[in-house]
Amino acid sequence: MSHWKRNRRILFGITGGIAAYKAPDILRGWIKEGCEVEVILTRSAEEFVSPLVLSTLTGRKVWREKDFLSADEGWKIPHITLVDWAEIFVIAPCTANVLCMCAQGDGSTLLGAAMLANRKPLVIFPAMNSNMLQNLAVKANIDRITAMGHTVVNPDSGMLACGYEGKGRLPDNSVIYEHVWNALSPKKDLAGLKVLVTAGPTHEYIDSVRYVGNPSSGKMGYAIAKAAWYRGAEVTLVSGPVSIPRPEGVQIVDVVSAEQMYKACIDAAPEMDIIIKAAAVGDFRAEKEMKQKLKRREGEPLTVTFVQNKDIAAELGKIKKEGQVLVGFAAETEDLIANAKKKMVAKNLDMIACNDVLAASCGFASDTNTLMIMTNDGSEVEFSGTKDDVADSLLDAVIRKKNRE
Ligand code: PMT
Repeated sequence: MSHWKRNRRILFGITGGIAAYKAPDILRGWIKEGCEVEVILTRSAEEFVSPLVLSTLTGRKVWREKDFLSADEGWKIPHITLVDWAEIFVIAPCTANVLCMCAQGDGSTLLGAAMLANRKPLVIFPAMNSNMLQNLAVKANIDRITAMGHTVVNPDSGMLACGYEGKGRLPDNSVIYEHVWNALSPKKDLAGLKVLVTAGPTHEYIDSVRYVGNPSSGKMGYAIAKAAWYRGAEVTLVSGPVSIPRPEGVQIVDVVSAEQMYKACIDAAPEMDIIIKAAAVGDFRAEKEMKQKLKRREGEPLTVTFVQNKDIAAELGKIKKEGQVLVGFAAETEDLIANAKKKMVAKNLDMIACNDVLAASCGFASDTNTLMIMTNDGSEVEFSGTKDDVADSLLDAVIRKKNRE
């Protein structure tokens, strides 16, 4: 867990939709990461989730409607003190009624008054029946809240509690956490920039069921895409076939082969400010991809002729536009620096991140990595750590390079 995610102060507003029963589980995730959580529970939310469960998990009082302007607790002015204390205000689930209160500035409840007094990032997760979500009044309220600068996260689609199948589900906890981390990110130094990241392996099929691939899991590229999103970039992730969770907030282009990855990158490159090529691209493909499954003939070897795939990084190096920062990766097993520098020059890269793919806890599939990052103007810096932390450090180096352009 990146250091800046620890010990954050979260004000968690829970409103009266059936998804409120998920609130204790959402809250537990923050508590596990060492965050402090204060809860505001609306009157109708108390029908779905017990204040005692929530206060036991937070180790704090749960603020309820009865505490608003009340004789015994009102003097603590919770609608002011809570939002002053918090670093972020999260409302999940958020009913259509509370969306209306937020959009209209209705301060007649504890939650409503807190929203009025709030000056921190407000991240709202609507959850309701799909027809209600489509209601023009609800859509107008969401637009108005977004125009105020707050974040309203699209609900998921699926089976709803009312028996409908459609959009309106509270997103998975992982999605909620990602949007909260994005809002809490200490750096937004990539805001306004477009970033293209490639990740994962490519699969080069030799027949309908067999392919040549490599052990890339996509973790390094996905960590870079996530870190760039946290820091405000508009991220496009071109991903080979991987089985790790897809990052939130980025546009993902799924590809299988190197040829497909090449096309996706060439199409996207002209509008990109930064391109980071963490994918392990197959250098060769079968000259002829057999449509049927090749038959095994006892005692007979299988001979397949391979031809070279395009070097995507080198092709991007040929069309690099003014001010664009093109970053390659080098998967090396020996003479790391010399081999990586050769690739940087040969592909006309601005930077290259070199990792020793034979070293323990580095390279393919590991959760950690060590990157030696070199720029074409001679700077060299090395980072080790989780792939999330190393991704952040790589972006620091990329921004330093971009600012020197
Ligand atoms: O995905 P993980 O499991 O987290 O593993 C991460 C990683 C080890 C895959 C990653 O850190 C890494 O090293 N990626 C680059 C792997 C690779 O293909 O390195 P290379 O030295 O063969 O290629 C050099 C550069 O040229 C890379 O930026 C690569 O994307 C690019 N390339 C290579 C071949 C090709 N045909 N087209 C390319 O664009």
